Amino acid sequence: NIVPVILCGGSGTRLWPRSRKQAPKPFLPLVGEDSLFRETLDRFVHESDFEAPIIVAGEAHRGLIEEQLGSAEARLVIEPEAKNTAPAIALAAQLLADDDVMLVCPSDHHIAKPDAFRKAARSAADLAREGWLVSLGIVPVAPETGFGYLQRGEVLGDGYRTTRFVEKPDRARAEQFLADGGFLWNAGIFVFTAGRFREELALHRPAMARAVAEAGDGAAREGAIVRPAGAPFAAIEGDSIDYAVMENTGRAALVEADIGWSDIGSWTALHEALEKDGDGNSTRGRAELVDCRGVLVDSDGPRVSAIGLENIVIVVDGDEVLVTTAEGAQKVGKLHGASNQ
Ligand code: GDD
Ligand code: MG
Repeated sequence: NIVPVILCGGSGTRLWPRSRKQAPKPFLPLVGEDSLFRETLDRFVHESDFEAPIIVAGEAHRGLIEEQLGSAEARLVIEPEAKNTAPAIALAAQLLADDDVMLVCPSDHHIAKPDAFRKAARSAADLAREGWLVSLGIVPVAPETGFGYLQRGEVLGDGYRTTRFVEKPDRARAEQFLADGGFLWNAGIFVFTAGRFREELALHRPAMARAVAEAGDGAAREGAIVRPAGAPFAAIEGDSIDYAVMENTGRAALVEADIGWSDIGSWTALHEALEKDGDGNSTRGRAELVDCRGVLVDSDGPRVSAIGLENIVIVVDGDEVLVTTAEGAQKVGKLHGASNQ
């Protein structure tokens, strides 16, 4: 069986003003009616080979998580501090036996084809049982610098060996990878056994592995909630699984996944994932668009009326209004409003 591990940590400041500290990106209904977190959960309910998930998050979001879980069964690991994804995944691994297969899922993605996703996850699980650390790989469409890149090597089962894992390359390298053709994007979805992950973490980040083991040994449990001890965690140098483990391991593999994946990283990325009219406009809430193309309007109250705009994003949330070009959408997180909420 496969144990989904859902990570809820990022803040999503580029989706301000909709995404705020108290209600960050994973918990908002951005693409459909459900939040990305709930969509992530729903990929596994009623699937007999997936067990109840482990959710790793901070105390600040426990209330939102419990509310959105509803009656769904899950274990919740409350991180003493956010130390990026490697420690978060390691905390979840602490709860599992060596042979248990973990399927690590971010909670800030939209996946349009859940059946294809589960199929890819099962193929990846087969490789994981043979000792591989498997990434789901996405055929890249642009030289994005915010993603990891996987170089496809020899065939392994339903996937391939990953001969190189390069996290967030600069623009020139990303362009080179695209031109080369043998590279995929890392979807940030990983599959491995808990034992293999622990082993690789101990090999490449021994201090982190020790601290997490200590935190797990000292954990307090209360029903389905696990609170690892905070003291050993404090000294950890935070790092992502990509830099800490995947770039260094000799056991990386990938499964190509045509799953309708989109990383909802910014307003323009969200716009791409949404349904659009014939002019490429997408509106939510009250809006009247005349002679507009490629415009996204998302208003939770006031009516937005616009004439003659192209590739503009307009968001109204309570007492905040954001207006930006597609290019500017990458810089939203740097606005005063977004950083001092
Ligand atoms: N619990 C917890 N604690 N979750 C965390 C933490 C943490 O400290 N830090 C990040 N997360 C969660 C985020 O909420 C998100 O769901 C997921 O882990 C990935 O973290 P990001 O910070 O969004 O990573 P990224 O987007 O820069 O890069 C990763 O994802 C890309 C695809 O979207 C990498 O894996 C890249 O290689 C990959 O291409
Ligand atoms: Mg991300």
